[in-house]
Amino acid sequence: MSLQSFDTYQSMFRELVARKYSRADLYKECGQPGKAHPEQLPAELRVLIEMYKDLAPALVIEVGIWSGGTLYYWCKYAPEGTEIIAIDTWWFRFLQWIRTWDIDPKNILPLCANTTNQPCKDLVKEILATRRRKDDETRFILIDGGHDERTVRNDYRDLGCFVSNGIVSLHDISAERGPDHWHGIRKLWHELVNDPDKSTVAFEQDSLHGPGMFGIGVEVRDA
Ligand SMILES: C[S@@+](CC[C@H](N)C(=O)[O-])C[C@H]1O[C@@H](n2cnc3c(N)ncnc32)[C@H](O)[C@@H]1O
Repeated sequence: MSLQSFDTYQSMFRELVARKYSRADLYKECGQPGKAHPEQLPAELRVLIEMYKDLAPALVIEVGIWSGGTLYYWCKYAPEGTEIIAIDTWWFRFLQWIRTWDIDPKNILPLCANTTNQPCKDLVKEILATRRRKDDETRFILIDGGHDERTVRNDYRDLGCFVSNGIVSLHDISAERGPDHWHGIRKLWHELVNDPDKSTVAFEQDSLHGPGMFGIGVEVRDA
């Protein structure tokens, strides 16, 4: 794993926020996912992309694809041979919009599943076993599916468990002002931050919608 220090990513993030890093900047630097738009603040996503590139994961899991706005970057910057398990309950928009991508999405393993069902965890386990993946390979997961506390805790536990070496990231950790049912993400994030055994860094800023929205939390695991 060749991640840089958290300070390095934090100062990159502060610099992006200071210069009001925009979606147009992100698209210019990292490409544009066709008609799709990532549901993230550009500076927050840009730093996560940087960590992703440094990590160079062998396996990626994204929960919550929506239009493919973030999945595009995981595909674009995936090292040769990396596989990406993409999980969502609803694929209609993504299947329409993936045609507007300017990259070949051949490394995606699409999983149409609800992560709150036990079989989803079993399915992922089966995929990993079938493909003879090594447990200690570098892995990256973005949890951005169901935003209620039960689902996020479930995703963190049942899918996060597949990462022993790499990154488990959560979106919307700042949700103080989002819908009430999102507040569980922040609660979980605070538990992780306060756990002395965990190594965490957060990228949070005020948005057009005011403070307490969005935010990306990253937990780094080192096998
Ligand atoms: C916020 S969107 C994802 C945005 C995307 N990561 C991006 O930034 O462009 C959330 C997605 O999670 C999916 N979702 C919600 N609950 C889910 C669940 N329990 N299992 C799988 N997918 C779920 C929804 O269908 C939706 O497409």
